Amino acid sequence: MRQFERYLVTSALPYANGPLHIGHLSGAYLSADIYVRFQRLVNKDIVFICGSDEHGAAITLRAAKEGIQPKAIIDKYHESFQKSFEGMGISFDHYDRTSSQLHHETSQEFFRNLFNKGEFIEKESEQYYDEEAKQFLADRYITGTCPKCANENAYGDQCEKCGSALSPTELIRPKSTLTGKEPTLRKTRHWYLPLDKYEEWLREWITEGTLYDKVLHYPEDWKNHVIGQCKSWLDGGLQPRSMTRDLDWGVDVPKEIPGSEGKKLYVWMDAPIGYISSTKAWAEKKGKDWEPYWKSEDSALIHFIGKDNIVFHCLIFPAILKAHGDYVLPVNVPANQFMNLEGDKISTSKNWAVWVHEYLEDFEGRQDELRYALIKNMPELKDSEFTWKSFQDANNNELVNNLANFVNRVIVLTNKYYEGIVPEIDEDEGFTGPESQSEVCYHDSELIRLFDDIHELCANIRKYDFRSALKNLMEISTKGNQILQFNEPWKLQKEQPETVKVIMNICLQYVTAISVICRPFMPFTSDKLRTLLNLDPIKEEGELDDLLFQLADGEHPLKAKHQIGKPFHLFSRIDDDVIEAQVAKLGNTGAKAAIKNPIKETINFDDFMKLDIRTAVITEAEKVPKADKLLKLALDLGFEQRTVVSGIAAHFTPEEVVGKSVSLLANLAPRKIRGVESQGMILMAEDDEGKLSFVSPEDGWPNGMIIK
Ligand code: MF3
Ligand code: ZN
Repeated sequence: MRQFERYLVTSALPYANGPLHIGHLSGAYLSADIYVRFQRLVNKDIVFICGSDEHGAAITLRAAKEGIQPKAIIDKYHESFQKSFEGMGISFDHYDRTSSQLHHETSQEFFRNLFNKGEFIEKESEQYYDEEAKQFLADRYITGTCPKCANENAYGDQCEKCGSALSPTELIRPKSTLTGKEPTLRKTRHWYLPLDKYEEWLREWITEGTLYDKVLHYPEDWKNHVIGQCKSWLDGGLQPRSMTRDLDWGVDVPKEIPGSEGKKLYVWMDAPIGYISSTKAWAEKKGKDWEPYWKSEDSALIHFIGKDNIVFHCLIFPAILKAHGDYVLPVNVPANQFMNLEGDKISTSKNWAVWVHEYLEDFEGRQDELRYALIKNMPELKDSEFTWKSFQDANNNELVNNLANFVNRVIVLTNKYYEGIVPEIDEDEGFTGPESQSEVCYHDSELIRLFDDIHELCANIRKYDFRSALKNLMEISTKGNQILQFNEPWKLQKEQPETVKVIMNICLQYVTAISVICRPFMPFTSDKLRTLLNLDPIKEEGELDDLLFQLADGEHPLKAKHQIGKPFHLFSRIDDDVIEAQVAKLGNTGAKAAIKNPIKETINFDDFMKLDIRTAVITEAEKVPKADKLLKLALDLGFEQRTVVSGIAAHFTPEEVVGKSVSLLANLAPRKIRGVESQGMILMAEDDEGKLSFVSPEDGWPNGMIIK
């Protein structure tokens, strides 16, 4: 392992186009948080950077779908991310956003630098264009069948199923996301990064870890699946990749560059530079210098991401950094795979997700229970699965029965036997050790064992093996429990009080150690443990280093005569009904709608009877000129004809709606819309995504009938 003076840790900037779910957490955020908290505990100079990714098609498409401005979307989710991350104890040193001015300047400066050095190729090419929407279609604006794996929903820049990087013209049966239409080709000019030129050194850097005879990292430290994905990309050959787009949302191509008009930076050109701008903003806030973290050879840059981001962080961004020349390359990109949920892929549109903001409401004060279950199942090397049952089991069997039980017994007995004062001990007094009932052991040798066990935990964290490290933590708690179980101090207290003192004292040392080493995984629990022990909270300023020194020297981390606190429960059982309610909520968009649109104020029966709702059929439909959202409809009520102007044009074409049976609010006062008198209102159901459905009587139902 190389030694580093300082660390810069990043978590993928999440797209601000939907709320945070457990898949995000288990991918790029919890893993980074564990790593960073750990390095702070061993006194490393480390900065943890993140922010919202607010450009790109992910945002503009969502805005278009909801009929609002991108700004409204990014503001909403940026705020929501910050709350969710903070709520879950993800301890960023700085959380920024790519819409900030500093970021726009920083990414433009990068682009300018590469442009001036002649690193781009400027090229005219034919690109897909949507005639109806009058827009070029790049990235997520276009979908089609993946040429590599036949996935029918591949995007223009990437297939999320097989991970391939694509260009829109490779897609089979391309289709515009905006209108569903087949696109045409049009000429446009863009700036390309010739990735093919970087292929050789990228291969050397990834597979051998060296660059120009310098060791940059040890490839054996990288996860196999990360190296594997990179190799298969490299083997497939890299193509020049366009670094700009024809879009109206994003970072402008610097004005002084000829032909920059109407061009924005490709989101994957701007977003990773967000790590740099966010570091700058952090430095400004703290009065520090950001540059050594990014530019000094003895700095370790580490990117925590999900597997869909591997190519961008291991090939494209390094190529950009290399082209610039002043920056370090990442020493590791410990990507995680995906976490599934109850047997299915997590999906925002199907509401198949556990939303972090909802969890925080439903399980107030129980953040560590979720952190624990997610870390235990973290998709470090392969895809994994979260089930509510496994969450319940982890809580009840491990956190309650093992950890909380151990801690509680130690705190209760110390209060009972010694009024909460840590007993002084006779070091020569033996007791039964935790590994077998016949093991005789002593206080000092037990401290060494604790040292060794913690050492193993640390080694696993350094290897990004957080699941094993969490297991190490629970094994330490198990050993504490065994010491109590094998010795049964409650049976010895009368006859052998001196032995009981040694037993209780060593158990208190265990609890103290746990209050430090549980910190990266369960920071809230660490705080509670410090309260139970009546010790200062962990500030993450080298406390684990101190602990290891003490243990190695045979010094007691918790001193005799210290007064501890009063007992309270660390964790409590989660019952079946709580779990069942969560499972029932999955995929149930109705439950979400109830939260978003609570039931309106109560009305009385007479209020309801005032509404005259009738069955009707749409006989004609046409677009209202110069009004994107409006259709003018002719309705047949059986006994009369009506004209209604309805705001459904974004969802249905005139051809689609002719012949539809509908429900009409028939006694709504007529009003003029765009010069047309609208005589009533059609009832529509709206889902969470803003999609509309007609509320229709059964087929063949006569027109003009009352709905009541
Ligand atoms: N927004 C991207 C995603 O959610 C990740 C961006 S990571 C960064 O997949 F490197 F670009 F910042
Ligand atoms: Zn594919």
